[in-house]
Amino acid sequence: MTLMSLDHAVIRVRDLETALRWYRDILGLMVIEERDGAVYLGCGGDAHFDLGLMAGGVGLDHAAFAVADHAALTAAYERFAGRGVRCSEIEQPGEPGIASAFRVFLPTGHTFEVVVRDGTTGYPHPTKWHTAAAHAPIDLSHVTLMVEDVQAAVEFLRDQLDFAVSDIVQPTPESPWVFAFTRVGENHHDIALAMGDGGGKLHHVAFQVNGVGEVVHFADRLGRFGWKIEAGVGRHGPGGNTFLYVRDPFGNRVEITADVARVPNRWEPPKVWTGDLSAIFNVWTEEPPPASFAEGT
Ligand SMILES: [Fe+2]
Repeated sequence: MTLMSLDHAVIRVRDLETALRWYRDILGLMVIEERDGAVYLGCGGDAHFDLGLMAGGVGLDHAAFAVADHAALTAAYERFAGRGVRCSEIEQPGEPGIASAFRVFLPTGHTFEVVVRDGTTGYPHPTKWHTAAAHAPIDLSHVTLMVEDVQAAVEFLRDQLDFAVSDIVQPTPESPWVFAFTRVGENHHDIALAMGDGGGKLHHVAFQVNGVGEVVHFADRLGRFGWKIEAGVGRHGPGGNTFLYVRDPFGNRVEITADVARVPNRWEPPKVWTGDLSAIFNVWTEEPPPASFAEGT
């Protein structure tokens, strides 16, 4: 496995102050550092940032994956570039806690980053929890990209970047793949793919909370601040995770999720989900994904 884990995501927002109020005060993320027209926030369990907010536009700036050390970074660079994948040179990216990184430019228009942390990577510890927001997410969970051709994107991630494929959603044998779920470690999905517009759009960024009770707690909290849920609370078929979706002030979609499946066996073949999309999207109901799910940012 070349890449170790999903490290962080950086998204674009039209106004940094408005975004900061939403991600910090409602979502419960903690500000780690502000620099160069960007704010870096963490989930509070350690000193590392999970989400960057960058002024200008909407959508995904990049999703970053960690490798263990500088030797692994060079090996990853040589492996990807050697396959003809478009990469930037290895450099210091100017993000807090990142020692060294290179960018990977996907044919879908999305940008990934491969990073080495400049310190040890911690894990969320309850005794270190900040208390300002008891519901605060415990970690970045995954990033879902919007792509025109899900199958082609999956094949690129699998064959060029060494991702494993967890689940594929293909309603009928004749239909295109409409969703797919890929991973670099044991998490059921680090990068998911949703069929839609091309051009490198973001479908959503997901944060993990501790159990479905906290997903519901989040729903109450969003309601208290006047934010309407776009979809959920429900439980997905693929990954088995509970979910709710909400849009940030600029339309970027955020998922709050719990209980994402672990897939520890690298050799397990992907499961193909067929049939009615309603039962796949939310196993508790017969509701299909909302029509607004066709929108990305
Ligand atoms: Fe980054």
